[in-house]
Amino acid sequence: MELTRRYHFCASHRLHSQHLSEEVNRELYGKCNNPYGHGHNYEVEVTVSGPVNRQTGHVVDIRDLDTLVKTHITEPLDHRNLNREVADFRQLVPTTENLGVIIDKRLRAAWPSVFPKRTPDLGRVRIYETARNIFEI
Ligand code: NI
Repeated sequence: MELTRRYHFCASHRLHSQHLSEEVNRELYGKCNNPYGHGHNYEVEVTVSGPVNRQTGHVVDIRDLDTLVKTHITEPLDHRNLNREVADFRQLVPTTENLGVIIDKRLRAAWPSVFPKRTPDLGRVRIYETARNIFEI
């Protein structure tokens, strides 16, 4: 059984690589390279998979999932400037691809503390950056 739960946070970013010149950055990232950044209302879907528990009839205790996502994703990222306030992006351009990698990495690292038997398992993470840009890992 799979269950998908949706979460939300707002954050700002600037797409800029310190390894590239100002000119190449401007050409590569366009408006997303504007020096003062811009914001997104990110929607994050976390899909878990596993057997239906015979006692509870559920695949996951949603409260456990909410606590995990809140602690490791939404609280540390909400209303932050990803470039300046989130250590994961000191060396990493905060594209939504990289945001997906970081969110997946954080969830996988914390997962056993909440679900020690890996039941349910983390299936996938999907991020809606805009209505037209959707990323999945
Ligand atoms: Ni952007």
